[in-house]
Amino acid sequence: MNVYDSQRMQDVLAPAGYVAIDNAENADLVIINTCHIREKAVEKVYSELGRYRDLKAQRAALGLEMKIAVAGCVGQAEGEEITRRMKSVDLVFGPQTYHRLPELLRQNEISRKAVIETEFSVADKFVGLAEEQVRHPTSRSVTAFLTIQEGCDKFCTFCVVPYTRGAEFSRPVVQIVEEAKKLAGQGVKELTLLGQNVNAYRGPSLNGTPSQLGTLINELSQISGIQRIRYMTSHPRDMSDDLIEAHGSNPKLMPYLHLPIQSGSNRVLKAMNRGHTTDEYLNVIERLRAACPSIALTSDFIVGFPGETDAEFDETLDLIRGINYASAFSFKYSPRPGTPAAENKKQIPEDVKSERLARLQNLLNAQQIAFNQTCVGLTLPVLVEKPGRQKGQMIGRSPYLQSVHLDLETEALGQIVNAKILAVGPNSLSGQYVPETQKGVTSI
Ligand code: 5AD
Ligand code: SF4
Repeated sequence: MNVYDSQRMQDVLAPAGYVAIDNAENADLVIINTCHIREKAVEKVYSELGRYRDLKAQRAALGLEMKIAVAGCVGQAEGEEITRRMKSVDLVFGPQTYHRLPELLRQNEISRKAVIETEFSVADKFVGLAEEQVRHPTSRSVTAFLTIQEGCDKFCTFCVVPYTRGAEFSRPVVQIVEEAKKLAGQGVKELTLLGQNVNAYRGPSLNGTPSQLGTLINELSQISGIQRIRYMTSHPRDMSDDLIEAHGSNPKLMPYLHLPIQSGSNRVLKAMNRGHTTDEYLNVIERLRAACPSIALTSDFIVGFPGETDAEFDETLDLIRGINYASAFSFKYSPRPGTPAAENKKQIPEDVKSERLARLQNLLNAQQIAFNQTCVGLTLPVLVEKPGRQKGQMIGRSPYLQSVHLDLETEALGQIVNAKILAVGPNSLSGQYVPETQKGVTSI
């Protein structure tokens, strides 16, 4: 979502004459778009700010200006703390206010004082952005992110999102359809619908009734040019029937789902306030696999949640063994200020967390390799996204979001071609282009 937000910041700044550049030395304005989800991400912000403070001083010595802005959830959570610690920062704003960037920059210009803006008004933001895009639509490739929902009401006890991104908000269907049509017009073939809790989507449809994600996906797949649809991130509790059904009936909805469970222990899940048990999660997966047998699953895991015992951690490993993930993200629990779990007295020592994470990642890596191996010999439809390193090579994506290297010319950009998968590397597949006319190939 930060990638999407950063692109929208470029859009709102473009009318004021700003263009994105690659090196900060020449920048009039540096925006650090930040993440607050784990402590490491926050530490990174302060070390980056130190770097830009030095660059700002270098530019000042040449008589040039450089404004420094902190955007995103660290801005939201830390507010004035940032300008207190880093005097060189001119602007701090949260994820709900970036549509007002030009105005905030003007305020700073006039007052010559740091401007801090961390209000919550997510509906206003999208209205502002939608107007901006009419004047200044930008798409960068054949795939695009599209935020349809923001915020979260779930309050998992480890998570800052409900505090930084605020309450759940779903954009109206018409706004999303309009943005999707614009993207399709610019050559986008694949949409990834975004939301912190994307399958809790309940945006108003034209007649005012709340729409569900499955219905929205079916509507978006009618747009000419849109060939593929994905969505993330979902909560197991919100995997409604219409969405599961869409996985069975809508060929444009990719057979791939990121569905975090976080832990395989029911006691830990309860302490996390996840609102579901392992059985409920497994039941959702069973229904998904019944609707779409080829569906590939991924998840997020947290190890070392306060109080997690060795036996409870083993339950997570067992759950993973039973599911067979195509890939997954995994993290050491990181106490976040203001969240209930951070107050828990039974914090797990760092070395135990590290050891558990290593074991978990070994298992997940083995499953990822095994999943990739199952693709060898299959012919998969690959959306060609960009040129590869070598001439005559292109890189695309399989339905399962794997990178696929192909020997193809650049004319294939944006097309979905059939590729016979020949080999598997640690992070990508390589395949051979199969012309349409060739018969007798195994297809998924
Ligand atoms: N510590 C570690 N991981 C976390 N996540 C969210 N909060 C924390 C935390 N405090 C992970 C969860 C979530 C993903 C986006 O980040 O696994 O699904
Ligand atoms: Fe955070 Fe996801 Fe839980 Fe919401 S559902 S509180 S975003 S982990």
